[in-house]
Order: sequence, then C-alpha cells, then structure tokens
Amino acid sequence: STKAGYTMWDGPYGDWGSRKYLISSLDQSLKRMGLEYVDIFYHHRPDPETPLQETMKALDHVVRQGKALYVGLSNYPAELARKAIDILNDLGTPCVIHQPKYSMFERAPEARLLDVLKEKGVGCIPFSPLAGGQLTNRYLHGIPQDSRAASGSQFLNPDQLTEEKRLKVVALNALAESRGQKLSQMALAWVLRHDAVTSVLIGASKTSQIDDAVGMLENRQFSAQELATIDDILNRSN
Ligand SMILES: NC(=O)c1ccc[n+]([C@@H]2O[C@H](COP(=O)([O-])OP(=O)(O)OC[C@H]3O[C@@H](n4cnc5c(N)ncnc54)[C@H](OP(=O)(O)O)[C@@H]3O)[C@@H](O)[C@H]2O)c1
Repeated sequence: STKAGYTMWDGPYGDWGSRKYLISSLDQSLKRMGLEYVDIFYHHRPDPETPLQETMKALDHVVRQGKALYVGLSNYPAELARKAIDILNDLGTPCVIHQPKYSMFERAPEARLLDVLKEKGVGCIPFSPLAGGQLTNRYLHGIPQDSRAASGSQFLNPDQLTEEKRLKVVALNALAESRGQKLSQMALAWVLRHDAVTSVLIGASKTSQIDDAVGMLENRQFSAQELATIDDILNRSN
C-alpha cells in the first residue's frame, strides 16, 4: 500500500526504497529538471519491504555515478537512522543530513533521533517547522479561504485545527509578541534552538512569508524562562 502523494508512478517500483525505484526516479527527475546532478538526494522514508543495505547501496551508487553530490535520509526513526548512517559510512558515502518532521507540535525527534544525529555528526533539517501553518497567526480566527487548511491539502486538514490547539496557539502567539516577533518566527527559532538542528526547511505560499521567516534571524535567543513557558503551554491540556 502506498500513501497518496508520495508515489512517483504506478506499479511496484514507483515508490519506497528499492534500487530500481531510487535509480529510475532520480533519472526521471533529472530529465524533468534538465539537470545532470542534484546536490542532495534523499531517501524519503523507510521501506519495510526492502533490505536497508539495498537502499543504502543505491544511494551510494548514485553518488558514484555523479548524479548526486551528497545523500540524505528523511523520516527515518532513531535506530533505523543509526543503522543506515553506519552502512553509508562503511560504503564511503556518508549521510550528510536527515530531514525529520519536527516542530512545537511534533516533538518525537527529541526522544532519541536528535541525539543519534549529534553523536554521528549528521546534519538535521526539520520539515514542517510550522506544523503546516498551524504555528502561525493564520488560524487564530477561523480558516481563511487562501490557506492550506482550506485547500483540501493532504498535509493539513481542518480536523487537525482543534480548539485545544487553537488555545495553545493563542498563548504561544502572546509569548512571541512579548519577544517582539511573530509566532511563525518564534516557531522557526525554537526548532533551531536545538544544537542538533543545522537548518530548517521553510514552506511558503507568499513571498511575505519568506520575509517573515528571514526576519526570525533578528531574535533567535530564548531565556530559560521562555523555554519553560513554551513547554508548559505545549504540555497543558486545555
Ligand atoms: N520529507 C518529507 O517527508 C516532507 C514532508 C512534507 C514537507 N516536506 C518539505 O518541507 C517543506 C516545508 O514543509 P511545510 O510547507 O509543511 O512547512 P511549514 O513551515 O510547516 O508550513 C508552511 C505553510 O505555513 C504557512 N505559513 C508559512 N509562513 C507563514 C507566515 N509567516 N504566516 C502565516 N502562515 C505562514 C503557509 O501556509 P498557507 O498556504 O496557508 O499560506 C505555508 O505554506 C515542504 O515544502 C517540503 O519541501 C518534506
């Protein structure tokens, strides 16, 4: 079974982590983009049906072919990431970066993954740092027409916008204002506060959102008190 939106084409080799899939999907992407190589080729998510060795050897192969300069992993949980990183090191094509889902609303990587990445010296670039737009001022008063939640997106549906979350967002928004920044900016700075986090992958539907993201750089510091307040808001049940 495949999840809608990830599959590159129909049939058994249009998804997941086989050598056949990885090599042919990269070839097709390069053709579509008119490029000879990509800077980083990620394995998108673990494949429970393909031996890890096969997937990692395919990543090593595309680097040796010159079709990718570096390789990365995405959505790999801690222990599987550790194994994959070890295999890639043995093959001589180190994993440069891991792309996990990490935000104030999605803290699972804090349990073990971030420690593994630090220990192994692998970079970390979280995706969906704003939980698809929930950690912004976008949904404070309903669902705007031009928003992701109103668009039928599989990445954010209105059912995820619960009253409990809205109350947390209201409290977080007030804290961000007291820091002289927008909630989106505080949410990005918060992801970057962790010393295992190297960069952050932003998403934007308007150029003003990119300006907001860059504006975050003006205040990346958190006091211990502010971090404790954020934990308290996130952990409380409203
Ligand atoms: N590896 C993976 O499995 C995986 C999965 C998902 C995504 N990704 C990657 O990660 C990237 C980022 O993910 P994401 O788009 O979910 O990130 P995100 O930062 O959590 O959400 C971005 C959305 O938040 C809203 N937003 C952004 N800045 C805002 C601001 N200043 N004020 C109000 N709303 C704001 C916009 O939604 P509106 O449309 O409502 O304006 C924007 O499209 C994607 O482009 C994709 O490349 C990777």
